[in-house]
Amino acid sequence: MDGILEEKCWAIARCFLPEENWWHGLPHIRRMLALLDGFFVEDPTVDTVVLNAVRMAVYFHDIGRSRPDDSRGHALASVDILEELVEQEGLALPHREWVLYAIANHSVGLGGQSPTNEKETVLGILVLLDHADAIGAIGIARTFAHMGRSLPLIPEDEVDIKAIYYCFTYPKSITMADVQIKERSCVGCIAFNFAATSHITASLTGLIPVSFMDIISGRQERMKLFALDILGQTGAT
Ligand SMILES: [Fe+2]
Ligand SMILES: [Fe+2]
Repeated sequence: MDGILEEKCWAIARCFLPEENWWHGLPHIRRMLALLDGFFVEDPTVDTVVLNAVRMAVYFHDIGRSRPDDSRGHALASVDILEELVEQEGLALPHREWVLYAIANHSVGLGGQSPTNEKETVLGILVLLDHADAIGAIGIARTFAHMGRSLPLIPEDEVDIKAIYYCFTYPKSITMADVQIKERSCVGCIAFNFAATSHITASLTGLIPVSFMDIISGRQERMKLFALDILGQTGAT
């Protein structure tokens, strides 16, 4: 991506995303860009054109969080803001259709399906980067920063605790619709992100460089150990 466009992307992102919100604000965008640079550009498995579209989507995918009252969710709010910028400010958005599709669907992802065209590939990699930042040590810290004030550490319901163990043991055999434990406890959120990441990586076989998979696996392992340790200390089995 050329430097002028990159500067423009940063200027726009700064208008909508706070620096001090390190879990969902500008630091989140920086971490995702660093992952993209390190594990896709230097070890490419897809076209540069697709990677550039992913880069644009990374900058703008969460700008809709600046409109918390939008009942449709922040993904569609991000699309609205971006379309306004394209029309009113004349923002040149290469492969606009791919970028908007990826942003609009990034809260849902590919539903476990493999991408069949470029816009789905952009979506798959965007969601992968988003989840790579939601797992491991940063993911644990993000969970507590974002959810820790409103949720208990672990669920009180024995069924939910069993579901968390199941998530860590058989992450690929559950469906995303089964993961109802997401919002009920911090450890539940961690288990959800662990399982969701397993689904995402399975659907992107062949597109994820080995070096990136190692990072993902390491982060998942740290997350799993942390959560199981917390559950173990409660005496739950
Ligand atoms: Fe998001
Ligand atoms: Fe995000």
